[in-house]
Amino acid sequence: MNTGKEHHPSKKSTPAVESKGALLEIQDLHTHFHTPEGVVRALSGVDLRLNEGRTLGIVGESGCGKTVLALTILRLIPQPPGRIAKGKIFFQGVDLLSLDDKGIREIRGNKISMIFQEPMTSLNPVFTIGSQIEEVIALHQPHLATTRRQARDVTVQMLDMVGISSPGKRIDDYPHQLSGGMCQRIMIAMALACKPSLMIADEPTTALDVTTQAQILSLMKDLKDETGTSIILVTHDLGVVANSCDEVAVMYTGHVVEYAGIESIFASPLHPYTKGLMRSIPTIEARKRGEILHTIPGNVPMGKDVPQGCTFNNRCEEVMDICRKEYPPVFVPAEGHSVRCWRYRR
Ligand SMILES: Nc1ncnc2c1ncn2[C@@H]1O[C@H](COP(=O)(O)OP(=O)(O)OP(=O)(O)O)[C@@H](O)[C@H]1O
Ligand code: SF4
Ligand SMILES: [Mg+2]
Repeated sequence: MNTGKEHHPSKKSTPAVESKGALLEIQDLHTHFHTPEGVVRALSGVDLRLNEGRTLGIVGESGCGKTVLALTILRLIPQPPGRIAKGKIFFQGVDLLSLDDKGIREIRGNKISMIFQEPMTSLNPVFTIGSQIEEVIALHQPHLATTRRQARDVTVQMLDMVGISSPGKRIDDYPHQLSGGMCQRIMIAMALACKPSLMIADEPTTALDVTTQAQILSLMKDLKDETGTSIILVTHDLGVVANSCDEVAVMYTGHVVEYAGIESIFASPLHPYTKGLMRSIPTIEARKRGEILHTIPGNVPMGKDVPQGCTFNNRCEEVMDICRKEYPPVFVPAEGHSVRCWRYRR
């Protein structure tokens, strides 16, 4: 198994974006889970930056650490068994890991809001959706809701904004009376009611059908353009990334293995893992040619199964000797495009 040292031969952080003016800057972040089977290094030295008004996609197979990253930013990791072992998370210049409980509560919901995959589990079944949104407005934007009438009007406006038809009627519905897509729109309305600077959406459309998925993503994009909110979009779907994101970070075994602007990564993916993910996207052309869909052999290793050296070496088609010994540092083969793979050593 890799030691922390092997994972971080270089102190260099992902150098793709100027840190100046970054809304969020994550440095050498490690989150571990202490389980009876041993320590799971869910995040193993993540460096990332997000500038204002941008959408950053986080992609990777199941178990790569995407949700743990989102939860670590908001300090929602269950402790124990989890522990944020090391690192810094600067948000608007303040290290979130240095805040006390009151400080982080003020950030959560106020400045950073989160949307989860299963909207039904995030909404309270015993209250109407209207009352739940009104509560968020009263808490985060009380000046908009000085009277009950005003709170209701603002809520109707928000429902309208997220594309709920007949919002004046729907406001009195309970969550079970709405479809999954509508519930996700409600979650977006609630997330926006906080007027956040950053919205973290963890697989917000995975549970929805393709048409609703496209509608929700386009809604998020429009709202982002209107409000200037930055977004971190966690998804296992590269198609979603292509349509929605400005930058993308590819995660594997708790590391960001490739980071680039959206055009750059699709035009020239560098990391063998990213290339594998790209080849796994089904296309009509490939189907017409009778090609069998490519899959990356094996599974994401966890805990004691994580190989020494590059953690992808047991699945990589381009593996070399050094890959079995040392974890690769960050290389920057093109401006704004960084990769952790020995193939790019100069
Ligand atoms: N509460 C926990 N206890 C122990 N291990 C955990 C816990 N939560 C997450 N992990 C481990 O951390 C690693 C990263 O998990 P994470 O949920 O972030 O993956 P993910 O990339 O979001 O996957 P998915 O696409 O399936 O949502 C996994 O190995 C997972 O088993
Ligand atoms: S460092 Fe080696 S094993 Fe890892 S992705 Fe690059 S070529 Fe493959
Ligand atoms: Mg997840």
